[in-house]
Amino acid sequence: MESYLCMSVQGEDEGEEVDIVKIYHLKKYFWEGVRQIKALDGIELAIEKGRLTAIVGASGSGKTTLLNTIGGLYRPTQGEVWVDGVNLGELSEDQLTIFRRRKAGFVFQNYNLIPELTVRENILFPLALDGLRADEVFFREIAGLLGLEHRLDDYSYELSGGERQCAAIARALITRPSLILADEPTGSLDVRSAQNVAGVLKMAVEMFGQTVVMVTHNLEIAQVADRVVRVKDGRTDA
Ligand SMILES: Nc1ncnc2c1ncn2[C@@H]1O[C@H](COP(=O)(O)OP(=O)(O)OP(=O)(O)O)[C@@H](O)[C@H]1O
Ligand SMILES: [Mg+2]
Repeated sequence: MESYLCMSVQGEDEGEEVDIVKIYHLKKYFWEGVRQIKALDGIELAIEKGRLTAIVGASGSGKTTLLNTIGGLYRPTQGEVWVDGVNLGELSEDQLTIFRRRKAGFVFQNYNLIPELTVRENILFPLALDGLRADEVFFREIAGLLGLEHRLDDYSYELSGGERQCAAIARALITRPSLILADEPTGSLDVRSAQNVAGVLKMAVEMFGQTVVMVTHNLEIAQVADRVVRVKDGRTDA
């Protein structure tokens, strides 16, 4: 029995990739007229699967640029970004669009809910884009865990900031993405709602084994993370 258990554990580990994001020598430069801005200047970083990683750093240090490059919104000036075994640099624009829709769930500071849609429609929107229907059981589970069951037929203007962000997180979760990328998800919230939203992201990691990368200015919020990565002048300490 003992050897059987050992064998099965080994079997599970075999070939399983621990790091879902791998970043090599990443540079991202912007130009403002003749001025070159080195937003990212040589990032080496691996992000572990099924963990909540916080990215912290001063304003202008490159946090958003890093998150957007991991999410395939920006192409690197130099270097490589691998997500779930795929080198994003090798994807065409169309493939990158599909990657963003299916593999990355974005959560923004200002929620970015569609005001003309109900909470239910907003949550299901990424699936609708792919012509897919929701797994009703999973939808109910998410809505329940995020405390949105009674809000599903409401419009976003009827919700509090915290509820809006929970709806945005539900929308990010519904496609079961490889990654959730959250840029200052608590930045517009009061202390209590901010803690609740951070708790919800942590729950997504614990309940669904979701990988979450969260940019935050707030060091208290960063404490919920399994790991904190500091960005300074376009470089990480990791
Ligand atoms: N699209 C862009 N065009 C030109 N410069 C940009 C662009 N995006 C970012 N930058 C510049 O790159 C640097 C890093 O910006 P970034 O937005 O990644 O910082 P940040 O750490 O997210 O800051 P904040 O905490 O204020 O959100 C800054 O100097 C910024 O002005
Ligand atoms: Mg930013």
